[in-house]
Amino acid sequence: MCGIVGYIGPKDTLPILIEGLKRLEYRGYDSAGIALSSNGKILVRKKAGKVADLVADLKESNELPQAHLGMGHTRWATHGEPNDINAHPHVDCKGEIAVIHNGIIENYLAIKTRLKQRGHIFKSETDTEILAHLIEEIYKTKKDLFGAVRLALREVRGTYGLVVLSSREPDKFIAARMGSPLILGLGEGESFVAADAAAIIAHTRQVVYLNDGEVAEVTAHGFETKTIYDVSIDKAIEEITFDLSQIERGGYEHFMMKEIHEQPETIRNAMRGRLLVEEGNVRLGGLEHVRDKLLDARRFIIIGCGTSWHAGLVGEYMLEHIAKVPTEVEYASEFRYRSPVITNNDVVFLISQSGETADTLAALREAKAKGATVLGIVNVVGSSIPRETQGGVYVHAGPEIGVASTKAFTSQLTTLALITLMIAREKGMKKEEAVVLTRELDAIPGKVSQIFKNVEPIRALAREFRDSKNFLFLGRGANFPVALEGALKLKEISYIHAEGYPAAEMKHGPIALIDEKMPVVFVVPKDSIYEKVISNIQEVRARKGRIIAIANEDDHEINSMADYVIRVPRTYGFFGPILNVIPLQLLAYYMAVERGCNVDQPRNLAKSVTVE
Ligand code: AGP
Repeated sequence: MCGIVGYIGPKDTLPILIEGLKRLEYRGYDSAGIALSSNGKILVRKKAGKVADLVADLKESNELPQAHLGMGHTRWATHGEPNDINAHPHVDCKGEIAVIHNGIIENYLAIKTRLKQRGHIFKSETDTEILAHLIEEIYKTKKDLFGAVRLALREVRGTYGLVVLSSREPDKFIAARMGSPLILGLGEGESFVAADAAAIIAHTRQVVYLNDGEVAEVTAHGFETKTIYDVSIDKAIEEITFDLSQIERGGYEHFMMKEIHEQPETIRNAMRGRLLVEEGNVRLGGLEHVRDKLLDARRFIIIGCGTSWHAGLVGEYMLEHIAKVPTEVEYASEFRYRSPVITNNDVVFLISQSGETADTLAALREAKAKGATVLGIVNVVGSSIPRETQGGVYVHAGPEIGVASTKAFTSQLTTLALITLMIAREKGMKKEEAVVLTRELDAIPGKVSQIFKNVEPIRALAREFRDSKNFLFLGRGANFPVALEGALKLKEISYIHAEGYPAAEMKHGPIALIDEKMPVVFVVPKDSIYEKVISNIQEVRARKGRIIAIANEDDHEINSMADYVIRVPRTYGFFGPILNVIPLQLLAYYMAVERGCNVDQPRNLAKSVTVE
């Protein structure tokens, strides 16, 4: 959610902070700020609005001195409205200790009350500010910042990615993590901290991922890590695998459009080294050690939020039909509070692009505590969910910057297809039968590229329906979740009210909405339930609904039934959602552009929802 970047080293810190904050803008935010340590002072500048507003403000205010230690923050308000005072960094009474924070301090009010009784004066409404004063209070006796921060965090309940500076110890910063992502970056005679590698990749590829409960003292020449309970920890230094250009928009106007067009490659990446086409088999290293658990499982439970939940629904169709595994799909936010009946014969898959979604993380911990085998299907390498699961599969979609998830969704579906095929073979599916499916899967990246060859009809639809107030998306079987996903994409970035429904459910109510103004998108590939969808199309036609059909290239029948037809190549039914969703991603994108919406940072949305 919030963005964090920090630096200590010989270079001028401010430009590094500003560049880092700009790279974190995609995370969604409402204010920004920096703190510089210079000449025994901590200088803080912060502003509601965009990083650009902060930069403009910095230019106007008197020149900031060169500094070799500093930190920056983009805020996503949780406690206290977005304004200059509530923006981070926050400082203690004397302005000697400054903090920036990503997360929520749940017991901040109790601590604030106690500190007020000790004479501390608070300026903001935030939970974060208590950290600066709590550390100040402890520092009065514990004259060591690293130690004082660890002591302070023993009193804190909640989540944090936290960075602390002190004007009394200008040769270091302290970084601590509980629940919110935080990484250290190591360079030649310089060090960095960030909530996300995007902020520092321009400077280093050597990173250290902090785990929950870990605190690091970082200088320009290295770092030391301890738990908040003083246990020293040896940390591995890892290599960032993606490069700066992947973060850049690559010539597209928006990250979302770049990511939509990356799908032939990202779907291929999800299969790379895993799909053994001519053997009709799949190898998933991250699941080998839980093979027996997978094969002996009483059931699979797939858990996620938003688009990841939709991927789970498609996975349910694949796993039950192809691998004959009883499968259930759960909203993480409901699962975590429903005291679900879970046993150690259950296998729980947590699907998450960011790997940081709070509800999904909590559902993981709930299932794990109840003895289930918890496995992840995640995109962001090194994020929290992979570190807390007992195994899993990275979907390898690369950094997804656009808030509206696209390539991560098709990579999640591809990964679910791989898991399904692996289990089906383990359960006795014949090689001949499997090779038919592995060849189909292998052909999908090429078929996605075909869709991009003719996007004009989709752009024309967006122009035609740009003033629509409502949209309905309908599908059957594994394409019902595709209808849900199409509706979500349109809602997210074009702000048009849209609903996805199983096509047969129409006559149980929603059909009342149908009139000549209602655009109805049908996902109607030529699969085993094609005829059923056709009769649903007839029901809508009879009520003058405007019918848009996502249909296969060789389907001529549909021309006489739909007002608009968008073509997708044909593939094996349960792999169809990987293709059928692409025109819906494009429709939402062109609609948002037509309506002048902020495609990459839609209002009210964050890329990674790290609070419940
Ligand atoms: C999808 O476009 C949205 N950004 C949102 O629904 C997202 O899928 C949801 O917040 C889950 O995020 P995750 O996959 O990172 O856990």
